[in-house]
Amino acid sequence: MPVAEARTERPKSEYIDFWNEVLVPKFIKWKHIIVDGLTLHSAAVFPALLLKPGDRVVDAGCGFGDTAIELARRVGPQGSVLGVDCCDAFLEFGRKEAKAAGIKNVTFLCEDVQTYPFEPVHDFCFSRFGTQFFENPVAGLRNMRKSLKPGGIMTMIVWRNLSENPWLGLPKEVILKFLPPPGEGARTCGPGPFSMADTGVVAKQIEIAGYTGVTFDRVDAKVLVGRDLDEAVELQLALGPAGEIFREAGAEAESRRKEIVTAFKEAMAPFLTLTGVMMDSSSWKVTARNPG
Ligand SMILES: C[S@@+](CC[C@H](N)C(=O)[O-])C[C@H]1O[C@@H](n2cnc3c(N)ncnc32)[C@H](O)[C@@H]1O
Repeated sequence: MPVAEARTERPKSEYIDFWNEVLVPKFIKWKHIIVDGLTLHSAAVFPALLLKPGDRVVDAGCGFGDTAIELARRVGPQGSVLGVDCCDAFLEFGRKEAKAAGIKNVTFLCEDVQTYPFEPVHDFCFSRFGTQFFENPVAGLRNMRKSLKPGGIMTMIVWRNLSENPWLGLPKEVILKFLPPPGEGARTCGPGPFSMADTGVVAKQIEIAGYTGVTFDRVDAKVLVGRDLDEAVELQLALGPAGEIFREAGAEAESRRKEIVTAFKEAMAPFLTLTGVMMDSSSWKVTARNPG
């Protein structure tokens, strides 16, 4: 089978630059929390994925590659998985992990999922929290569909509303008591984690992208926000909506750091358990078919 290769040139994207320049070091630092936290959302949906041994799969926006490796195990040696992400620094973790585990049927490709010319040979296209960052969600979803054979299935996991995700919503509420929201010109990673929360909007995007038979299943799970309160506070100052507000506020944020840390600790203390700070989160499992 042909090996997928990255293009020598691809369209420029300020969001992809932002991922590589700003978010890569933060995500690597917080990998242990991010991967474990997000895993609860895919662990809940993996058993029921419409996959069979021998299938060819794309994992779109696969990050550190843990779901791509899990999918490779599921489809077995007769099947294969192409994990695609726009940050090679993330993919290096997946390559090393697959090699260490002796898994040979997964390939990691550094590319833009929205525009990469996929071969239409795949049975299944998966994404966990990747599609929400597409500059043009319809174009991105359409391109994922083009990776599928007629009848192939796409399943993506996306966050529900911020109000259903207090693990990110509560710190945002708290920090806004101290700092202003990011201005119009703030650099971002794309439309953002909650851009696909509205089922009406997403159903329409999926329809325009050419899929049929869309379904939504709600997944509720606790997320480990930090192994203790100090770690939970540090994570919120680095990532997510509160992290963005803190980063964008620059020197003003630094001057109020002490007060913000105290307020975060107070707000998150009720969620401290023996295993760490555990907070509620909620996502959609969205499934649709390529009619061909
Ligand atoms: C929140 S992370 C999720 C990563 C992984 N799927 C997981 O669940 O751990 C979003 C990922 O999408 C990737 N991404 C964002 N836009 C992309 C694009 N246009 N093409 C490829 N990857 C993209 C980012 O680099 C990042 O790894």
